[in-house]
Amino acid sequence: MSDERTYPQEALTRQATAITEAVDYIRGHTRHTHFDLGMILGSGLNSLAEQVIDAGDEIAIIPFASIPHFCASTVAGHTGRLVLGRMGKTNVWIMQGRLHYYEGYTLSQITFPIRVMQRMGIDTLIITNAAGGIRADLQAGDLMLIIDHLNLAGMAGHHPLRGPNDDDLGPRFPSMSRAYDARLAELARTVAQERDMTLHEGIYAMVSGPSFETPAEIRFLRLIGADAVGMSTVPEVLVARHGGMRVLGLSMISNVAIDTLPQDPDVETSHQEVLETGRRAAPKMAMLLQGIIGRISQE
Ligand code: HPA
Repeated sequence: MSDERTYPQEALTRQATAITEAVDYIRGHTRHTHFDLGMILGSGLNSLAEQVIDAGDEIAIIPFASIPHFCASTVAGHTGRLVLGRMGKTNVWIMQGRLHYYEGYTLSQITFPIRVMQRMGIDTLIITNAAGGIRADLQAGDLMLIIDHLNLAGMAGHHPLRGPNDDDLGPRFPSMSRAYDARLAELARTVAQERDMTLHEGIYAMVSGPSFETPAEIRFLRLIGADAVGMSTVPEVLVARHGGMRVLGLSMISNVAIDTLPQDPDVETSHQEVLETGRRAAPKMAMLLQGIIGRISQE
């Protein structure tokens, strides 16, 4: 009998064991046994976790690299640690920084923290990211509620759920017709309105990166219906939905994507610009998230 015939089951057992080991380790570092929500902070938005840290209420800070089977974040602007604590009355599980496909990790490695959240019983996930604005009305510093996505990496065969399916985690063919939760989206709209903030809405396209897009690629993305583009989020959303979690997605528009060949050779998108806009827009995103989290705890 070839190894291939037993491989899928072994891979599933290995993954289940890895999840258990990570969960056990994290449980050993926090007094909280229940978390109302998980949150992933994207490029330039790391500072949002500082509020939780400043609150200092039974907080645990755990570097990704010290957690069994977690991979370390290698990108500037991504701190790469878990912050477990409280925001108001809500127990929060915050990933301060995330992993990306372009770093060289597999999509299973990138989404492993979502499986750990799932096993911890977290049923609500808030995902933030930095994204390039494609739609004409989106400017640097704007916030956008993600209402749907284009999984370009997935359509090219790079999907975190490729391979044997663990039926204990979720179904073989999960539906994505409602990837982003309607009630959470409504809650975000309400909070934005109450706080007199403009919250745009749109479709997020995931590309693998790490190069930014050419102008022709931006025009292509606009043509297929993308409002914003980024290098993350979609893998985590796919796994969270597979695991039955409800998802809220928020993009901070860090730059206007360049859609024509620039006359000026100095005009280009840079990671620096992404991080700087993130830092500028972080207080706005923090205000929105605070309101949303406050409401979730009242549900
Ligand atoms: N393209 C892809 N990813 C991004 C961008 C962009 O313009 N901005 C922030 N992340």
